[in-house]
Amino acid sequence: MKGLILSGGKGTRLRPFTYTGAKQLVPLANKPVLFYAIEDLVEAGITTIGIVISPETGEQVKATVGDGALFGAQITYLLQDAPRGIAHGIKIAQDFIGVDPFVLFLGDNFLREGIVPQVKAFHAGAMNAQIILYPMDDPSSMGVAVLDAAGHVTRLVEKPQQFISPYAVIGIYMFDQHVFEAVNSIKPSARGELEITETIQYLIDHGLKVGAQPLTGWWIDTGKTSDILEANRLILDILETKIAGQVTDNSRIEGRVVLEPGALVINSTVRGPAIIGAQTRIENAYVGPYTSIQRDCVIQNCEIEHSVVLENTHIQDVSSRIADSLIGRNVEIGRADGQNKALKIMLGDYSKVGIL
Ligand code: G1P
Repeated sequence: MKGLILSGGKGTRLRPFTYTGAKQLVPLANKPVLFYAIEDLVEAGITTIGIVISPETGEQVKATVGDGALFGAQITYLLQDAPRGIAHGIKIAQDFIGVDPFVLFLGDNFLREGIVPQVKAFHAGAMNAQIILYPMDDPSSMGVAVLDAAGHVTRLVEKPQQFISPYAVIGIYMFDQHVFEAVNSIKPSARGELEITETIQYLIDHGLKVGAQPLTGWWIDTGKTSDILEANRLILDILETKIAGQVTDNSRIEGRVVLEPGALVINSTVRGPAIIGAQTRIENAYVGPYTSIQRDCVIQNCEIEHSVVLENTHIQDVSSRIADSLIGRNVEIGRADGQNKALKIMLGDYSKVGIL
């Protein structure tokens, strides 16, 4: 079995982060969400993996992920010229997939418990396709599956405006080679994309066997959950303590905390769950629960909690506690110099600041 991960798209819902990076590289507990997808495939024994990339962010994805050696996998990159839909991603992967069955994994989807049971069920059921269902109160921003009394999938609808069923179809699918007939037959939808829901509907309508598995454990579509903090919180909740950095005697580490190699905690308190990246210095500071700070940051003379800070950012001498915040790469927050009592700000497009 092969794996196909989609890592294109524009990530408009995650601006401003996605101006300078792929949405699949947004870190959750200091690790790009795409890495979890690769690890889930490898855990299910799938090591031949294709990643569909876009012209805008493809090079960055390649540079971050590499050839797969990091994960014990072999990764091939497939360029999609424009965001033409999930089913278009399958179409351009036809030569790579050949006649093997495969798992299609949307690179911004995150699963709590991996895909091992679903892959087993797919093989055991000798199915042509398999989807995974997640009941939601309001699945209207997802593909939705309608089941008959026997639990068979009869209909799939992309983002239905009326409530037709609670079952969202999550972004992890399994197919055999019949899917290529479908993606080569369907036409672009009103939003100009080859839709995955229509692809699966084609298979159902042509009498192929489409199974559905329920999901145990939670799932997040991180491209949609504009709340990266929420996704980060869920992942930090399953973090295990690992102290590979240094802590001075007058500091306190409480609860589950990861200090990556070279991280330094001086005269500070870090209360988990929290993760502090490599080479990051926490000095005279308080880092509270549900905070992820990436590598090469400085957090000095300030307090921060329930926040995500990306790499190489310096936060110094801030008198109010920073909370519920997302702070990008190479950001500097500190005291303004000069005489007049004024805030000095340089912010990129779509940034948001709440001041006291
Ligand atoms: C896509 C699919 C949708 C699926 C969702 C899962 O939505 O079109 O059927 O339920 O991913 O994440 P999109 O991200 O394009 O809105």
